[in-house]
Amino acid sequence: MLTVVVPTYKEAANLLPLSTRVDEVLKRAGIVYELLIVDDCSPDDTVSVCERLVEQFPLRLLQPGGRPRDLSLSVIDGIRAANHDLVLVMDADLSHPPEKIPEMVSLLSTSPGAFVVGSRYVQGGSFDRSWSLWRFINSHIATMLARPLVKCLDPMSGFFLFDRRYIGEIDALRPLGYKIGLELMVRGHFDEIIEVPIAFADREIGASKMNLTQQVKYLRHLRLLYLYKFGGLAEFVHFGVVGASGFIVDVTFYYSLQLLGVPHQIARGISFWPAVSWNWMMNRMTTFGGRKRRPKGRQWLEFTGASLLGFSVSFGVYVLLTSSIEFFDRYRELAFIAGVLSASILNFTMSTLFVYSEKRR
Ligand code: GDD
Ligand code: MN
Repeated sequence: MLTVVVPTYKEAANLLPLSTRVDEVLKRAGIVYELLIVDDCSPDDTVSVCERLVEQFPLRLLQPGGRPRDLSLSVIDGIRAANHDLVLVMDADLSHPPEKIPEMVSLLSTSPGAFVVGSRYVQGGSFDRSWSLWRFINSHIATMLARPLVKCLDPMSGFFLFDRRYIGEIDALRPLGYKIGLELMVRGHFDEIIEVPIAFADREIGASKMNLTQQVKYLRHLRLLYLYKFGGLAEFVHFGVVGASGFIVDVTFYYSLQLLGVPHQIARGISFWPAVSWNWMMNRMTTFGGRKRRPKGRQWLEFTGASLLGFSVSFGVYVLLTSSIEFFDRYRELAFIAGVLSASILNFTMSTLFVYSEKRR
């Protein structure tokens, strides 16, 4: 007994070929199923097409509403509304081969606590060669960013099967945008992830709804998942990445000012300020973006103060190590790194406890 959940937005023309293929495959395999279409009130013929299809297939149309249009939230609505605990999620555009479903179901019957993923990157999997270079690079960067979160070669996949009793608290899910599979793998209580090779086909009808907004949502989603999985360490690494970007700002100003004829010591003195302001802003919007905002002016001053203190510590550690320990005098880069690291830890501690604290106003 299986519920096939298909999120749709403007997929009316794909529904007949989809239902036909799913029905053929599952009937042949002797799998009893329902096809649950979760549509975000598409401005097309979805409703009338479904009205015709219910006469032929075990199909149900759900149009939740009352929330923003969202792929992941639609899938969650589908999981809740499913009549069976076994849930398979797939796209409507036939990118995911229905022929793979019986194999996935039989894997799940031997490992009931598994999360079974249709994967493009496992041995034997593939995707359509017609992908643009842009989509290819994008997809690979997105995949790499998620790798530390899950043991899965294709964490971006939208084709997966699981028993919903292993999700845990469904209200605790916080997906944003497209990557509901990743969300389930990270927050769910599955025993293992099993990947099944699939040939991902490009859609023939209609258009993808993936866009820049979705990609930004994905970054925000990743942030939540990293925080969930790694807690404060994730914040620290994020803080470090912002710090590194600030270093680029620092160096850019340092050289540009000299090109304009500013003497190098003065350039060094000035470049600190745009860099520290950049770091302050980025930490306010991203690293600690989930925290309540405190007044800008005072927070900027405090952050700058913490950074200056951090810089003195960095400088102090460098001078101390190189002048008192011969090893560090020989390997000065290590003294430099030790200084920067101590300053980062100090900076981060002050930022998380005071500068971006929620308790202070
Ligand atoms: N209900 C609902 N609401 N459905 C949506 C929405 C929405 O806001 N946006 C998209 N969908 C549906 C589409 O109608 C389709 O059935 C499915 O979600 C996938 O959308 P596509 O627009 O076809 O996505 P894609 O082909 O770019 O991306 C697919 O492949 C990626 C891997 O390359 C998806 O499976 C992604 O999850 C996957 O990462
Ligand atoms: Mn698609």
